[in-house]
Amino acid sequence: MDNATRLQYLEAMGIDVWLPRVSGNDEQAAVIEDSWETLQAEVMGCLLCGLCETRNQPVFGSGNKNADWVFLGEAPGQSEDQQGLPFVGNAGQLLTEMLRAIDLDREQVFIANILKCHPPANRDPKPSEIETCKPYLLRQLALIKPKIIVALGRVSAQTLLDTDAPIGKLRGKIHALNETPVVVVYHPAHLLRAPLDKRKAWADLKLAVQTVKNIKG
Ligand code: URA
Repeated sequence: MDNATRLQYLEAMGIDVWLPRVSGNDEQAAVIEDSWETLQAEVMGCLLCGLCETRNQPVFGSGNKNADWVFLGEAPGQSEDQQGLPFVGNAGQLLTEMLRAIDLDREQVFIANILKCHPPANRDPKPSEIETCKPYLLRQLALIKPKIIVALGRVSAQTLLDTDAPIGKLRGKIHALNETPVVVVYHPAHLLRAPLDKRKAWADLKLAVQTVKNIKG
């Protein structure tokens, strides 16, 4: 990632970047570096919202830190909260099958959620919780530098794309987050309830595959 893009991410996270008053390339070299270890430690000890009082443990995400593909769900469910890993329940099994359908496995990709902590009784994330947690996700994305982000479900898509548009309007298109393509796919939990939508999900996964193929390098 070039420094201009890194600056955009940092700005979106509300992090002030102080640059020394020097000229040319030296200025760009001064952009602060984040690290996976720092970020993971911050997430695992996070007390920034009320979910820290009810969670069992934060779910940082799992998979390849250098993945081309990032899959983002909404928030850990109860099983994820217990195991500390994303998508380990029934929806997770379907996600594994969706990955297999496009020749990927869970070790190749990175899987995470918009919220790192389980909302009690599986309620929807509150806007304030999303705002508080989003910077962690943006920092994960800045470190991974994926070729594509797959937003699983409405909450993930609306958060990443900063829109209120319904998922039916967001799927089927290529969006972008700071120049990284974003494809919206129905959440596997929705597909378990509405199997007729699997056809659309398959079309969206194929769109994502084609999008990655079209990226040079
Ligand atoms: N649903 C999600 O959105 N994320 C998980 O990790 C599990 C279920």
